[in-house]
Amino acid sequence: MTGNATAISQNLPPNVAQQRVLVLDFGSQYAHLIARRVREQQVYCEIIRHDITAQRIRELNPQGLILSGGPASVYEPGAPRCDPKIFRLGIPLLGICYGMQLACDALGGEVKSASSREYGRARCHTQDNSGLFSGLPAEMDVWMSHGDQVMSTSDEFIPLASTGTCPIAAVKHRDLPVYGLQFHPEVTHTPQGNALLRNFLMEVCSCEGTWKLDEFAKQLIHQLRQRIGTGQVICGLSGGVDSAVTAALLYQAVGTQLSCIHVDNGLLRQDEKESVIREFTGHFKTDLHVVEAEDKFLTALAGISDPQEKRIRIGHAFIECFKEEAAQIEGAQFLAQGTLYPDVIESGAAPDGPAATIKLHHNVGGLPEELGFELIEPLRDLFKDEVRRLGLELGLPEDLIWRHPFPGPGLAVRCLGEVTKGRLKTLRAADAIVVEEIQAAGLYRQTAQAFAVLLPVQSVGVMGDSRTYENAVAVRCVDSHDFMTADWSHLPHELLGRISTRMINEVPGVNRVCYDISSKPPATIEWE
Ligand code: XMP
Repeated sequence: MTGNATAISQNLPPNVAQQRVLVLDFGSQYAHLIARRVREQQVYCEIIRHDITAQRIRELNPQGLILSGGPASVYEPGAPRCDPKIFRLGIPLLGICYGMQLACDALGGEVKSASSREYGRARCHTQDNSGLFSGLPAEMDVWMSHGDQVMSTSDEFIPLASTGTCPIAAVKHRDLPVYGLQFHPEVTHTPQGNALLRNFLMEVCSCEGTWKLDEFAKQLIHQLRQRIGTGQVICGLSGGVDSAVTAALLYQAVGTQLSCIHVDNGLLRQDEKESVIREFTGHFKTDLHVVEAEDKFLTALAGISDPQEKRIRIGHAFIECFKEEAAQIEGAQFLAQGTLYPDVIESGAAPDGPAATIKLHHNVGGLPEELGFELIEPLRDLFKDEVRRLGLELGLPEDLIWRHPFPGPGLAVRCLGEVTKGRLKTLRAADAIVVEEIQAAGLYRQTAQAFAVLLPVQSVGVMGDSRTYENAVAVRCVDSHDFMTADWSHLPHELLGRISTRMINEVPGVNRVCYDISSKPPATIEWE
């Protein structure tokens, strides 16, 4: 079954995503992860609302369906359900955890609360080595996270696997292409999880693995050319990976019709402006407008210590600068932005996608609609890891592609208390040492964010024979996959020691360094 369905997404080239799998989201924290894992198998995948009708699914004509997990109990009133007709569409379906319970419940099984909630690793024994379990060992570790489980199935189901506490850990329907897994194949704690998903996609759904980023990029570039015609496009460059990849794509598509704007707000990391200039005038020869706006931002921030007030003022100043500069670019009709797929999903803006989830949006990089441009968002179908791969394919350098995320308000929210030129200079130098040392130790890629925070605290020290009374700096390094939760990075003590020694020796005005060992939640990644 090869779909030629209406594309769900707005700008997806139709033939790239001919074979796609849809993930019905029942509120799982792992729905994005499932979709990413499917795409890693080169099968295009989108997340859609759980209550989509069977009729709509038939129109979309996917190659397979995956029902995600979710926090509810299927037997509770008001629990999210899917249209029961989807089980009989003849489209291969895999229910994961809650998704399996729903499938079994809908097709005659019994779901009950387990005697105790099972959370963690379990040893799984398989009774089948075909289809889903083809080529997999008879025993393997799996990751469980459930309170309910399927207690019995109707005769229509065949149990495929069990664990010590979960007699029905995987099932298959006798006649329909409906499968269920009580455990989570999408998490790395299920080492055979990718192989299981691959079996579902290739063996059960007959996907061919046609989702290739290079092909996607080629078609996207072609599509962008058609849409833009002879028009002029503006793209804001922050120094981060999303806007850089957006600009690189547009440069490939329309070359000199692209103008980039980089606002130097005086709140950037060390060498950030220089690397933007190097990349977008040296490598990609774009029409780059650098707006020197340090004074404007620092004036707007003078005397302000409240974090939200800092964000608001930075946001206003940014829009003003951008607007003024954009007005200088003759004939500009389009504005390109680096919106990614998770943003589209979380804002509830995807057609057929799940409703918006409540998320604290503190982004200040957004531009208001009244600027009057037509919006182009070429990355709106991609996950971050795909954007990075695309950037590398487009020839952007590794250090830019792998640079840690940086908040829109920049160093202002890492300079606790008042933001002044002098304090920013201290912070920037301290921050560069954190990054340099973590890079030198080969730990930069596995760390999600690593930075310095200048505290509004002075402490006593001794340097040589004299007493000092100078600034304290906190070093913040976290490991995280999604930035919604994070653990502090357990860095080697020697590395922390080097960071501290260098900072105190090399950065004037710093005489004390602390390491932040709080996780998120309850702390946040940033200090402000
Ligand atoms: P928190 O501090 O909420 O941060 O744990 C989660 C992620 O969001 C980034 N962050 C921001 N990004 N504007 C942004 O564009 C902001 O105001 C902002 N505040 C936090 C933070 O760096 C982390 O990646």
